[in-house]
Amino acid sequence: MKNRHRVAFMVVLAIFAATILFVRHEDASSPQQSGNKSQSGQLGTAGFRKDAYSIDTPGSPWWIVNKKRSLPNGYTPADVTVPSVRLRQSAASDEMKLSTPAAKSAEALFAAAKEAGYSLMLASGYRSQALQNVLYNGYVAKDGQAAADRYSAKPGTSEHQTGLAMDVCLANSGCSLEQAFGDTPAGKWIAANAHKYGFIVRYLPGKDAITGYEYEPWHLRYVGIELATELQRNNKTMEEFFGL
Ligand code: DAL
Ligand code: ZN
Repeated sequence: MKNRHRVAFMVVLAIFAATILFVRHEDASSPQQSGNKSQSGQLGTAGFRKDAYSIDTPGSPWWIVNKKRSLPNGYTPADVTVPSVRLRQSAASDEMKLSTPAAKSAEALFAAAKEAGYSLMLASGYRSQALQNVLYNGYVAKDGQAAADRYSAKPGTSEHQTGLAMDVCLANSGCSLEQAFGDTPAGKWIAANAHKYGFIVRYLPGKDAITGYEYEPWHLRYVGIELATELQRNNKTMEEFFGL
């Protein structure tokens, strides 16, 4: 009797352990980001799911906005937060806001940069279409339209309007946004590490013809850790990776 009980107990224990292992395995294969997902399962290299999120849907972490893919007129992101980081403007300014997942990831990126010895500052986050209009027109007046179009988005086509993009600078160096920033230790650190926190340097050097813009080592776009890591691994822009 005693032995039979022991065997029954061992069988129950084995079933319990197998169930836990199975559930763990299922969890590990679940996507970790929120957003719009499709079920068709288009696999890229190394099993990366290129259709895990929409590149067309406003608010999706993979939403691609560029000169040919404008935002819906007057778009405003639904859920925005001012990240707890050093800010160039007052926390009351809309321009210091980011979409909430991007804001949380920015906090992690800034904290890691601080650990590495770089005190970053958020120079510009969400920009309304009206603000982009003022900025763009100012650049056109200063440099002419052809030059302005190489570094400033026409209103209605800026990633800043999505709430998923931010310009960062060094807090203690006048917060200048210049290409030379990419050659500084801070700029190099960002280029090598931003993907670990879900951000990419969106306008890469030598890819002007693809992205539509000159190199901007300070302009970071939130896409989530998975895609950021994949783009970093392949040194690709969003346009190249998704075949646009
Ligand atoms: N500087 C980037 C391209 C923008 O204006 O959105
Ligand atoms: Zn920018």
